[in-house]
Amino acid sequence: MYDKILTSLSYGMFAVGAKGITAPNACIANTVIQISSYPMTVAVSINHSNFTNECIKRSGEFTVSVLSENTSGAVIGALGFTSGRDGNKLNNVRHKILREGAPVIQEDICCWFLCKVVNTVETVTHTIFIAEPVAGSETIKGKPMTYDFYINSIKGKSPKFAPTYIPEEEEVLDKYTCTICKYEYSNSLIPFTELPDSWICPICGAPKSVFRKSD
Ligand SMILES: Cc1cc2nc3c(=O)[nH]c(=O)nc-3n(C[C@H](O)[C@H](O)[C@H](O)COP(=O)(O)O)c2cc1C
Repeated sequence: MYDKILTSLSYGMFAVGAKGITAPNACIANTVIQISSYPMTVAVSINHSNFTNECIKRSGEFTVSVLSENTSGAVIGALGFTSGRDGNKLNNVRHKILREGAPVIQEDICCWFLCKVVNTVETVTHTIFIAEPVAGSETIKGKPMTYDFYINSIKGKSPKFAPTYIPEEEEVLDKYTCTICKYEYSNSLIPFTELPDSWICPICGAPKSVFRKSD
């Protein structure tokens, strides 16, 4: 299956922070990439359901803390598996808050930078924020943690809203059929029920509401 092929892609490990409503917020992301050098631009892909997505959209800014191999797994647990909607996740994570209100993690990270969003691209599940770094740390310390290190050395996992999430083998996903053209939706990464109401049949363009659960 082509979705298994994508597990061969390489990534880094980052904490993406943004000014919240009552407190700063951050989540773990493996999808920070450099787009170009001149002008210097980066991109990050953040799920629509993550509070961080809302925070970045509201403030137009985000920080990237580049995790190192020494960054504790507890930091990834705190920021990557709970939502800022449920409380201040940074309470137990050492951090500083920039003048702009966005947090920078201070748990053995390699370096950090602050970005201003210059463009966004919406996909069915994620917003890709394209941004220009405008400030950052002077030095780089330690060895950046890779996603491979997280999965194979720390034996970490990716939760549902991570782009690299793969459902457990035994998880059976229902199939849905378009009553107009008979196209069957059976994506193993996004259950049909989690698609937005604006989603349309990729074959005939019929609305999501005409789909029926397959037998
Ligand atoms: C290893 C790992 C990688 C992740 N990568 C991403 C990512 O690139 N984009 C994303 O939206 N969420 C990613 N997540 C999931 C978010 O960190 C997670 O859903 C978090 O609870 C969101 O918190 P928030 O609701 O406070 O924003 C990742 C989580 C882990 C553990």
